[in-house]
Amino acid sequence: MVKKKILVTGGSGYIGSRICLYLANKGYDVTALCYSKIPADETWIEKMDKVLIGDVRDEQFLQEVANYEYDILIHLVSLDHHQSNGTPSFVSSVNITPVWSLLDVFSKKGLKKFIYFSTAQVYGGLKDEVVSENKLLSSKNPYGLTHQVGEMICEYYNVNSDVDCHVVRLSNSYGAPIFEENNCWWLVVNDLCRMAYNQKRIVLQSDGSPLRDFIHGWDVCAGVQTIIETKAKHPVYNLSSGITLSILEIAEKVEKVFAQRYGLKLPIEVTVSGQKEESLKATNYKIDNSLICSIGFKPKWSLEDGINDLLDYLQKGS
Ligand SMILES: NC(=O)c1ccc[n+]([C@@H]2O[C@H](COP(=O)([O-])OP(=O)(O)OC[C@H]3O[C@@H](n4cnc5c(N)ncnc54)[C@H](O)[C@@H]3O)[C@@H](O)[C@H]2O)c1
Repeated sequence: MVKKKILVTGGSGYIGSRICLYLANKGYDVTALCYSKIPADETWIEKMDKVLIGDVRDEQFLQEVANYEYDILIHLVSLDHHQSNGTPSFVSSVNITPVWSLLDVFSKKGLKKFIYFSTAQVYGGLKDEVVSENKLLSSKNPYGLTHQVGEMICEYYNVNSDVDCHVVRLSNSYGAPIFEENNCWWLVVNDLCRMAYNQKRIVLQSDGSPLRDFIHGWDVCAGVQTIIETKAKHPVYNLSSGITLSILEIAEKVEKVFAQRYGLKLPIEVTVSGQKEESLKATNYKIDNSLICSIGFKPKWSLEDGINDLLDYLQKGS
């Protein structure tokens, strides 16, 4: 069987480095497009078909890369939600224009599938509801807005080119980083595990009521592989665990796993006292993953397993 040739932009990023490794281990020919430098991990590099260094804003560079004639392109470059509050011209030059440039260049070189990582933040504020892909988009911040525009570019190419574009609306990923330098410790589950391990306490920056759906990084990879292999033409998939928890509930899970491993019960401190019970009752939602499940995806990682894996990582590092 001919191996599929896959290009991953943001290839050394938090999600990209894991997707590259996962797909290479599954037997695909993976090219990791990294931004400023080659990752230091030799074992990871050896698994890649190619590791390229370049800027996705450079259309000349994209033309050269497109000459390798990829079957599939997975686009993972974006500023994070803090950086996306920068000047509109800069933010759109990184988050939006490259989506268009990549599709413009690669659609002329036989690309078959384009998998675009968007975010569940395009839905805006969520109430007590089941959030399916049909929900009207209503981004509440520039990060969500730029992904909403990226999605529209994909929609345009779905209609006007031979490329199958699939948008992935990711909830929140977590898990130990593949590369030490990955920007991932601001993610709540990662942050709480690191705080528990290093400081022996869990301090929340809120009353614990905000809700999150966390999906483990390896489940994200499995979801991507499902989209690579499917013949279904759904243009948009929610990629989530389908389980919504409050940050307090996540902290309690970290506390429980920590106690089981180390026999130590950690204190959980919330920032705003007195509102906890009330606000926890306030709202609930579910980011519906039934569409991607209908094409063969099944999340495998429980939050407890993911917390154990993070604590293993932290333990090894110390
Ligand atoms: N991490 C999450 O939980 C999460 C949740 C929802 C959506 N997403 C989306 O998934 C995608 C990947 O997220 P991540 O967490 O891996 O982010 P990340 O910041 O770790 O990865 C982005 C990568 O893009 C690279 N990059 C930046 N500018 C570039 C440029 N001009 N040219 C080439 N490369 C450039 C960065 O060096 C980085 O390696 C993003 O689109 C993000 O919005 C992530």
